[in-house]
Amino acid sequence: MDETLLLIPGPTNLSKRVREAMAGPQLPHVGAEFYSKFKETVQLARYVFKNEKGVQFVYTGTGTTGMESAVVSLVSRGDRTLTLMNGYFGHRMFLLNQIHGAKADNMDFGSTRAADPDLLRKELRKKKYSVVFITHVDTSSSVLNPVEELVDECSKAGALSVVDSVCAIGGEPMDFDRLGADVVFTASQKALAAAPGAVLVAASARAMEHMENRKSPIESYYMSLLRWKPIMDDPKMYLATPATQVLLALREAMLEVKEEGIERRWARHKKLAEMAQHTVEGWGQKFVAEEGHRAHTVTSFWVKDGTAGPIQRTLEARHRVMVSRGIYDDKDRMIRIGHFGILQPEMFQKALGHMGEVLEELGLVQGRIASTRPRIRK
Ligand SMILES: Cc1ncc(COP(=O)(O)O)c(C=O)c1O
Repeated sequence: MDETLLLIPGPTNLSKRVREAMAGPQLPHVGAEFYSKFKETVQLARYVFKNEKGVQFVYTGTGTTGMESAVVSLVSRGDRTLTLMNGYFGHRMFLLNQIHGAKADNMDFGSTRAADPDLLRKELRKKKYSVVFITHVDTSSSVLNPVEELVDECSKAGALSVVDSVCAIGGEPMDFDRLGADVVFTASQKALAAAPGAVLVAASARAMEHMENRKSPIESYYMSLLRWKPIMDDPKMYLATPATQVLLALREAMLEVKEEGIERRWARHKKLAEMAQHTVEGWGQKFVAEEGHRAHTVTSFWVKDGTAGPIQRTLEARHRVMVSRGIYDDKDRMIRIGHFGILQPEMFQKALGHMGEVLEELGLVQGRIASTRPRIRK
């Protein structure tokens, strides 16, 4: 490998085409070329979200901009909201609700279990919530939530639903029109395989109506989806200068997604997840996420306390493969492998093989490696 292979859960490896898309001369954001490329980017975003019915947004920012845009645009001070948490990012969403003045409740499923639709139904019967926040895949734990069932419960209870799909779209199935959620967002640097710096948001007609009929105005300029809406229709209008290179990279990355076909891309991610799970199982390590709720984009497992750092460092120094450790309290005892974007099974197989060698060398999986070579499912 002539450069480090990123197997961290974002940002991810960039294709040659995506790198080249960022390397041209500076384009004026109001000029004809950027105008037509931006319009195309919004259409491509509709393709990756499967959003024909709702409003589609693409603007400069990160996943956190998407989180905060959803909160400030939908939640008024004093509204009762519920956040389902399975790790760090769910907790951040809860915090954003508190910061922006919601009467914020949460249901904490811990960092290993998925959110339970039955428990959600019971909670929604007890209290009237205006908005429920769901994380599709919590990147800190790799828990994949049953979004369809959770969104369904919200719809039945008359609550708006928001899905943080930052670590999912492009790798996990997403059909915005069918799902029926009110706001779904992702960021450019994960399974879409573009550079960091763009946020993509889909909003239902119901969500837009809710924003238009709010009693109090949205308490943000940049993160108001209502302000961004006219820019999506006419990018010559000015709200803030877009990160043009980042958006050109995103356009190129989504053209690549379309060429592969979104369903085929989901299938490739499923295959990568199966390879990771089979290999980790073979190593005898314990998964963080419970069975049946392990993401197709990231796999995390526990390692002996204190060994996550040496595993990460040795793998990078010796094989130029970079994985992530856990977040905060879990940083010394959890490994997270990001397997999304342009990663192909053959390359992943090789990297997992190197990882097994490192675990063996550090005395963590003696005698197991030979029989547990990662395999590619045909
Ligand atoms: C699930 C999830 N939500 C939100 C974020 C925040 O995104 P960003 O770091 O781009 O602001 C991340 C980042 O990793 C994430 O994984």
